[in-house]
Amino acid sequence: MIRKVKGTRDILPPDSRLWAGVEAEALRIFSSFGYDEIRLPVLEPTDLFVRSVGEGTDIVSKEMYTFSDPKGRSLTLRPEGTAGVARAYIENGLGQRPQPLRLAYMGPMFRYEKMQRGRYRQFSQIGIELLGSSTPEADVEVILALHTFLAVLGFDDLVIVLNNLGDPEDRQRYIALLKKELAPHRERLCGDCQRRWDENPLRILDCKVPSCREIVEDTTPVAEAASAESRAHVDAVELELADLGITVRRAPRLVRGLDYYLRTVFEVISPELGENTVLCGGGRYDRLIADLGGPQVPGIGFAIGEDRLIEVLPAAARDRFLGERAVVLLPVAEGAAAVALGLARDLALAGIRAEVEVTGRSLRAGLKWAAKLGARAVVILGEDELAAGEAALRHMDAGEQERVPLERLREALVP
Ligand code: HAM
Repeated sequence: MIRKVKGTRDILPPDSRLWAGVEAEALRIFSSFGYDEIRLPVLEPTDLFVRSVGEGTDIVSKEMYTFSDPKGRSLTLRPEGTAGVARAYIENGLGQRPQPLRLAYMGPMFRYEKMQRGRYRQFSQIGIELLGSSTPEADVEVILALHTFLAVLGFDDLVIVLNNLGDPEDRQRYIALLKKELAPHRERLCGDCQRRWDENPLRILDCKVPSCREIVEDTTPVAEAASAESRAHVDAVELELADLGITVRRAPRLVRGLDYYLRTVFEVISPELGENTVLCGGGRYDRLIADLGGPQVPGIGFAIGEDRLIEVLPAAARDRFLGERAVVLLPVAEGAAAVALGLARDLALAGIRAEVEVTGRSLRAGLKWAAKLGARAVVILGEDELAAGEAALRHMDAGEQERVPLERLREALVP
């Protein structure tokens, strides 16, 4: 037997309905805030991620699915969506459109990560990006859209953590300070952190190894190195969110695993998943598009981990997306199958979910099958019924049965 690639998943029915429901809701809410969907390639030039996410990040240094195409070009299965959005912005001259530009996206991302609960090698993100505004209000809007979407899904226990990474100049100063503070403990850092020391010292702050965490606890938080201007920006974001009834928790040590961020960064944590399995991450990236050779256009956005979101989806949304239980159409007389199929069409056009028995089961076997499917009703088309232009309608939960004229069936089946 050929098995799926480790870290990938088959999303089977009925779970696939949850995915479709979440995605439709995301598009609905985000488009209400003005975010239209952009659909981008899964395959991008490797260089795009090296130059945006950053060479020293875990993602680029060890998690990318990179390969050469037959012409020897280095390609990578996208590990995230922001870099592709930035590339598309530049390549399609999206700066010519009215600014700011609001874009939403969703789809599979790939990272060669160690497998654990909520962590996959192919996973899906749902994200939005707001390009062309550097005001705190842009940050507030993006977080408001996120909060609104999560609230519509029924989440009420999520925590938004917020930090200020400062501007790149602040970061340079901070990295020098951090190295000075860590230097006496350098030997005690784990192997990964030894490597991070030169490549990406900020990542040491994010190390999960307990001995590294202990050492890091005594260092100056990154937020304290932020310039006055950057502080004013992030403080304004926090205040304006509070005015909208959205409280955030400051996390002065939060750093994110991608190099393009500055100033505002945030994550959404679910008590159910725990702090190590973040539901959503985002932040501001005012230099990314320019760094990729485009115009000086600021941006902010986030991406939700859809796999994780669905794992903790509140029951009400779950029920809503799973949708109505099917009606089974059970033809058990000569010529009844055609009647059943015609009815299925009428019901489909009326938006009523109905499944026809097409394998030739008997009445008894057909009822058993319908019960296994969890059908809410069975429409039995037997000889007597058809002769009278009727069907026997069996309500499965109540265990009751009635005769209904065929032309009234649709009415009788509206849930
Ligand atoms: P990120 O924090 O790397 O940010 O990923 C965002 C979310 O994707 C995470 O919070 C998590 O829920 C989900 N995720 C990441 N890796 C995995 C995995 N291996 N398995 C399951 N879920 C995962 C970004 O990707 C940025 N592009 C977000 C952004 C958009 N920033 C600005 N705009």
